[in-house]
Amino acid sequence: MNLKEEFIKFFVAKGHVEIPSAPLIPENDPTVLFNTAGMQPLVPYLLGEKHPLGKRLCDAQKCVRLTDLESIGDKTHHTFFEMLGNWSLGDYFKKESIGYSFEFLTKVLNIPINRLAVTVFIGNDDIPKDDSSAKIWQDLGIPKERIVYLGVEDNFWIAGDSGPCGGDTEIFYFRSNEEIPKAFDPNDDRWVEIWNNVFMEFYKNSDGSIRELEQKNVDTGMGLERIVAVLENKDDNYMSSIWQQIIKKIEQISDKSYNGNEFSMRVIADHIRTSVFISADRAGIKPSNTDQGYILRRLIRRAVRHAKKLGIDTSINWMEPIALEVIKKYENDYEEIKDNKEVVLKVLEEECKKFNKTLEKGLKEFDKLLNNLSNNVIDKDNAFKLYDTYGFPIELTVELANEKGLMVDIAGFKEKFQLHQELSRTASAGKFKGGLMGHSDIEIKYHTATHLLNAALKLVVSKDVHQKGSNINEERMRFDFSCDHKLTDEEKNKVEALVNEWIRAGLEVTSLEMNKEEAIKSGAEAMFIEKYADIVTVYKIGDVSKEICGGPHVNNTRELGHFKIVKEEASSSGVRRIKAILE
Ligand code: ALA
Repeated sequence: MNLKEEFIKFFVAKGHVEIPSAPLIPENDPTVLFNTAGMQPLVPYLLGEKHPLGKRLCDAQKCVRLTDLESIGDKTHHTFFEMLGNWSLGDYFKKESIGYSFEFLTKVLNIPINRLAVTVFIGNDDIPKDDSSAKIWQDLGIPKERIVYLGVEDNFWIAGDSGPCGGDTEIFYFRSNEEIPKAFDPNDDRWVEIWNNVFMEFYKNSDGSIRELEQKNVDTGMGLERIVAVLENKDDNYMSSIWQQIIKKIEQISDKSYNGNEFSMRVIADHIRTSVFISADRAGIKPSNTDQGYILRRLIRRAVRHAKKLGIDTSINWMEPIALEVIKKYENDYEEIKDNKEVVLKVLEEECKKFNKTLEKGLKEFDKLLNNLSNNVIDKDNAFKLYDTYGFPIELTVELANEKGLMVDIAGFKEKFQLHQELSRTASAGKFKGGLMGHSDIEIKYHTATHLLNAALKLVVSKDVHQKGSNINEERMRFDFSCDHKLTDEEKNKVEALVNEWIRAGLEVTSLEMNKEEAIKSGAEAMFIEKYADIVTVYKIGDVSKEICGGPHVNNTRELGHFKIVKEEASSSGVRRIKAILE
């Protein structure tokens, strides 16, 4: 049985529309590095914006969670995973949601009721105890002693500190051949959580206060890796069918068996899979020392280190066959994996090479350092030297240190690291006029043109047009927006003419810092309201456009030249894409 397919089929039969997974790397949200849950790309719709595909959606979303890299290597954690989810955007609520989950588990997956247990929210000062969910479960046949009430830590869900949120009910499965206890004990780890149904009816502000949302939503999440392992009766996720071929390949390459080498093999399997997905993303991430690039670098380097531990000859292109196995497994589900196969392989190979060059020297330096330690701590200067000179991500130093029973001054390292980043940022900023790091003049122009295009589409096509994504390079701008139809030639011509009219009018571009709520109230265009900091910058172009944005922009629209739409096409359902150039 293909679980992903069965899940989607089930929810489509219940009136849901399948949506494609959003990119792993959020296109317009610099505040988070990766999508960490299926709901993340849906935030505007949870807050009330109309989704073009309706009120019932389902998908499998690519996610990356990086809470604790060192724990990767155990049986159940992964940096990348696929999250199955179904959503009600102001449509059905608890009764249907719980009913659907129950039906899917017991009728489609044929899980006996006796193996199931649930938790529900016990309530707090703001939100009452969730007796109604408990009652729904009971009516479906879950006995009272299998329903446990828990507090905010367990049964309240929010992504980050503020945003849409709510109490949840979590479903557990008894994964053991031992006798099933009558009563459910959430601390007994033979019970594993398999599904989380969040009843998103609130919004948490950044000051911690909670208000009711305009609509009551349901957001659910089921980790594919875990449910597959559970159903295949494996207590080690990596022994499930999802990982089998990948682990087999690592066994071949290392000429060792999984048995006895589990930890390193799991690290390699997990990190290569995640690296494939990150480097295949259309954002074009390459290993670097910042943001997603640094995560990618850390993953590849940690995999190399564990390959060495297994005795793999890392001077040859050892990662490629494993990466190809990953690509084979996912290329039919995710187009970017197929399209960017060569890029991915090259990224992995080059980063391995780069790391290899300094790894041996770094390890020697590390050993030398051990001989000179006055206490059991690797101090910040040495940790930083390993990073700066030998390319050791801090986690690698920590891992090596732990193996020797030593500690690392991580806080001290982080301080140095930040200082170093600020210095190098200032240094590179100096290379660009106006301190605009990483943006060429033409990219800045495209950025301003993007705001004009957004404003023109709203006037010409519909005020319901909203930005869904944007991407700029030296050659062109790309703009994705919500729209239910292919633009007519007339619409395209009008949009183009309007943007050019604004350019010729020589409109001033000004910016103003203001409080986020104030900005929204003043009508400034924003994509993901809840993700902005409390104080935001609003860029105004004459009287035609007002958007929350980090800049940079030109000072006057006259600098843009001539605007031309070169292509208008579908991006995904309900979303159109315009490519345009400045001449
Ligand atoms: N958003 C919820 C989670 O990630 C479903 O668990």
